[in-house]
Amino acid sequence: MINEIEQVALRAARAAGRIHLKRLSRITINRKSNSIDLVTEADRESEAAIIEVIHRAFPTHAILAEESGASAHQSDHRWIIDPLDGTTNFAHGYPQFCVSIAYERRGRLQFGVVFDALKKECFVAHRGQGARLNGKPIRVSATPNLCSALLCTGFAYDRRERRRFYLAFWEELMTRSQGIRRTGSAALDLAYVAAGRTDGFWEFGLKPWDVAAGALIVEEARGRATNMDGSEIDVAAANILATNGRLHDELVEAIAQTRPEADRRHAEMLREIKASA
Ligand code: IPD
Ligand code: CA
Ligand code: CA
Repeated sequence: MINEIEQVALRAARAAGRIHLKRLSRITINRKSNSIDLVTEADRESEAAIIEVIHRAFPTHAILAEESGASAHQSDHRWIIDPLDGTTNFAHGYPQFCVSIAYERRGRLQFGVVFDALKKECFVAHRGQGARLNGKPIRVSATPNLCSALLCTGFAYDRRERRRFYLAFWEELMTRSQGIRRTGSAALDLAYVAAGRTDGFWEFGLKPWDVAAGALIVEEARGRATNMDGSEIDVAAANILATNGRLHDELVEAIAQTRPEADRRHAEMLREIKASA
């Protein structure tokens, strides 16, 4: 069955990738939850294409997809889909976006694919069988500690309202690491940890479709993907921290130490806004 899962997932990912490339030169943008939360025709079309491929092969499986939500029925088999991760990049023609598809059985992730059609990079993982990039095995970096690490992060769509909260972590980790990147695609950010291109990634307020495939790819590349406090990952909560494993505890601790100050700055900002209203 798992080979069939892989074949279907890859077929679906390639179908989405073709739509990304076709749509890149003629983009129609709409707004979702607020003025910075965008959706394009490419998001909707690629999601429809993915679901069609999956449903044709497995009509009874459940689906959780970003644009169309959760299927009404329950099943032991569930697919978690982000048809286009990095929509803001896509909408601006910035070359960092992908499709992310995960398959879970009885709530446990079994397979994940993150496909960047523009760079022709396909990251794949089967539980217990390692992670691969375009068919070749990948492993996380050997960077031993935070001070020699290249980190990556992202900011959720409440970033204007919670900017001081998020920036407190950026400020702290900027001084403790070798550098921080913000690429705009959480699924690729996770895949890059798995491939050893970065050493760690953290982000608050993600959704299951942002992280499901990438978290499995990190774990199968011998890294660690957990909740922000280091506990076992809850894909539904998706406050994620992923590293090469070696610097995991150090990063968990740095984030925990920064949190009170981040909360304080956020509360202070809310007071200022109220006072000036
Ligand atoms: C977003 C990207 C981004 C992250 C946001 C996500 P979308 O997903 O992964 O890197 O910072 O939190 O929502 O909207 O492009 O699919
Ligand atoms: Ca996403
Ligand atoms: Ca998306």
